[in-house]
Amino acid sequence: MRADLLQSLATRVAERERAGLLRRARTLDATHGVRVNLDGRELTIFCSNDYLGLAQDPRIVKALQDAANETGVGSTAAHLVCGHRREHAQLETALCEWTGREAALLFSSGWLANLGVAQALLDRDGACVEDKLNHASLLDAARLAGATLKRYPHNDAEGAARQLTSAGEQPALLASDGVFSMDGDVAPLRELAALCTREHATLMVDDAHGLGVLGPRGAGSVAAANLPQDDVPVLMVTLGKALGCMGAAVLGSRALVDGLTQFARMFVYTTALPPALAAAAYAAVRIARDDEARRAHLHALIARFRQGAMQLGLPLAESRSAIQPIVVGDTARALAASQTLEARGFLVTAIRPPTVPAGSARLRVTLSAAHSETDIDRLLAALTYTFSVVIPGLPKAEPGIHVGSPS
Ligand SMILES: Cc1ncc(COP(=O)(O)O)c(C=O)c1O
Repeated sequence: MRADLLQSLATRVAERERAGLLRRARTLDATHGVRVNLDGRELTIFCSNDYLGLAQDPRIVKALQDAANETGVGSTAAHLVCGHRREHAQLETALCEWTGREAALLFSSGWLANLGVAQALLDRDGACVEDKLNHASLLDAARLAGATLKRYPHNDAEGAARQLTSAGEQPALLASDGVFSMDGDVAPLRELAALCTREHATLMVDDAHGLGVLGPRGAGSVAAANLPQDDVPVLMVTLGKALGCMGAAVLGSRALVDGLTQFARMFVYTTALPPALAAAAYAAVRIARDDEARRAHLHALIARFRQGAMQLGLPLAESRSAIQPIVVGDTARALAASQTLEARGFLVTAIRPPTVPAGSARLRVTLSAAHSETDIDRLLAALTYTFSVVIPGLPKAEPGIHVGSPS
């Protein structure tokens, strides 16, 4: 008899619940920077991607409002029909100037941008070589493009070289997160770029978590590695993290963007971002690029957190980004740690498999320029309480050791 699809889905949900891996969205209310209201209590958030604290910046909100007054809410169509407005074009130009790229193409999300690149560049004859800990959207991008997916151990450029060699004469895209979303560490971008040049492969860097945080003028991990367009021909950046907005862009040569415009179905067949959102992102780019004091404050907080956590003996990842995970290992302990922190006024969601490899559940602590030094000190005190009183025994998992592969 034919299996009932909805019944199979319900069975899988029940299995996930039994394993303590069920995901649930929590409804936040009344957000004021890093303070949110959850179930009637005020909590300080340490798990958002609003690294520069721009999501509620009055200048960006005003840019959105002004543009909405002029252009309305929706873009009303895909870019290639009549959805492409002055605000989109202006944002693309600003992103090009910031990252030192020739051309840019906006997508409605980073997920769609990654899918679009792989789908336009690769087919069944192509190979996609990827770090095992790449974001799910990059891994799925290769699979959905029908390419041969070859994964290498985390940040192992030699492993990448072996996988590239094993692809023989297949055209190859080597794709890596610039800053890894769950670990916060940076890819060995210079080594990967040299490898791609030597092996005639195309390098793509997803800098969702590097833009605004790393590099000169916050231009990202690729700029920090001083790699121009010839070395990193495909750069993906998102607008929903340090820029506090939503959407994404792929940057590179005019030829790349012309090609994506024709063949990236995730660009062609979808409604363009609201022009007002593009105007807001444009305002955010200017602040993220020029406000060095804001970035310096974020980096001072990162240093303060790392120093405090080290004094407590908490295992820290090799991360100089705003993502500072504490790998707990066991799923139940990660959940208990998250709940304990919440009871003490902090929202730090536990990240569990399959988002991270089995055995590496963690508190993904993220810092924002909207935090104060006092926020960091209070979080450190709550972490001390969590790991000494409520679930005694410091996390056992070694940071940087990844025992499986996320999906
Ligand atoms: C590395 C990375 N790439 C891509 C994405 C997807 O971006 P978006 O949220 O804009 O779809 C994310 C996060 O969501 C990410 O962490």
